[in-house]
Amino acid sequence: MTLYDLVAPGLDERGDPRYRISDIRAADPLGADALLAALPGMNADADVAALTVALRTLVPDPDRAAEWSVVAALAAMRDLGILLGSLKRHGTQPVAAVPEVLPVLELLGRRTDMVPRDTVHHYTTWNPLGPRQRMYTGHPMEAHLQEAVRMAFPGLVAALDACSRLARLEPYDPGFAVALDRTAHHVQSMVDSIDFTIAHVSPEFFALTLRPYFEEIDVAGRDYLGPAAAQVPLWLVDVTLWQCDRSHSAYDEFLADSVQYSLPSWRDFHARHAGGVSAVSKLSAAVSWENVDRLPPQLAASAHALGRVLRILKTFRARHIGIARRAYSDDLRLYDEGSGGAPVDLLRSILDLTRDNETLVRRATGTRSRVRPSAGTPAA
Ligand code: HEM
Repeated sequence: MTLYDLVAPGLDERGDPRYRISDIRAADPLGADALLAALPGMNADADVAALTVALRTLVPDPDRAAEWSVVAALAAMRDLGILLGSLKRHGTQPVAAVPEVLPVLELLGRRTDMVPRDTVHHYTTWNPLGPRQRMYTGHPMEAHLQEAVRMAFPGLVAALDACSRLARLEPYDPGFAVALDRTAHHVQSMVDSIDFTIAHVSPEFFALTLRPYFEEIDVAGRDYLGPAAAQVPLWLVDVTLWQCDRSHSAYDEFLADSVQYSLPSWRDFHARHAGGVSAVSKLSAAVSWENVDRLPPQLAASAHALGRVLRILKTFRARHIGIARRAYSDDLRLYDEGSGGAPVDLLRSILDLTRDNETLVRRATGTRSRVRPSAGTPAA
């Protein structure tokens, strides 16, 4: 257990087996502990033969796998997954090399209601800590990057809860600002995560050593991306704040591709909110109805709270783009695209969109910052 597991206690009690994090970490349904402890050595030697044998050894009998709980199935996918990415890093398509893994990947994907390969959650949150930690390289910087993503997870789960509430409210409701303040509190974990990354993971290590393990693999004729940090669904927070009705095509496309890698409840979240009215649009509409230059206090509180969340998102993105630019600079990069399937330019667009929305909210309140003395009602 790390400090960040304590930030959002009670995840285990939510009923969704995907939040039974300590059980998933403890599970070893393939008996893979010893073999995966040797994985960094096989990768250091680029020993494709050993990796192929390791994957073949771990592939379970499909009838046995069909009996597993979701917890065991997630752990099994995690352990097969780290071998899939390792083989691909050394130029071998894993399913072509070990065809008997295909029905198992498909079965585990169905059983867990997720894609038929491992995702960032398998690689980080569901990965055991300590000597059982699954790693491609065993390097401390890899462990730090895993920890950085892990520390963002509980905050994001809680932020999405707050965003769900937000989407049901109007800016004149007192709950609107409360839901935004909760969101702000929880997405702060993304800023902590990127600060931790910048302090502990060098762009060189990411670009030259780690990034090649996150390549896509072919599963039954379809490419699936590796366990990229870009799969951490900060974009679902954007959906409710501004993206659902104020986006742009490159971000829409990235989001549509990325959502398949998320948890089933998060895909539901996306389906529920994608066609909705964003918090920024609701606020702009409400402010435009106010024809006095003093906003009702509740509306002003909502606007300020929305501005605060957008500023935190902007801070994350401004710091994140710094390390991403260095890792994908001309002199370092081995790939044109990030492990999440998009170029660094997309990060620039998302940062600009976040900033534009923040500016819009601030302007709405900036020119009308003086607050009307008593709570007002929406103009008819
Ligand atoms: C060395 C460290 C990192 C590098 C070089 C990096 C690079 C990138 C790149 C190039 C993208 C564009 C999409 C793609 O991957 O194809 C991206 C997206 C993204 N990354 Fe990272 N990243 C790093 C660490 C992190 C960490 C620690 C987190 C936090 C958990 C994170 C969260 C995200 C998110 C949420 C996106 C989606 C775009 C957005 O919401 O702004 N990244 N990253």
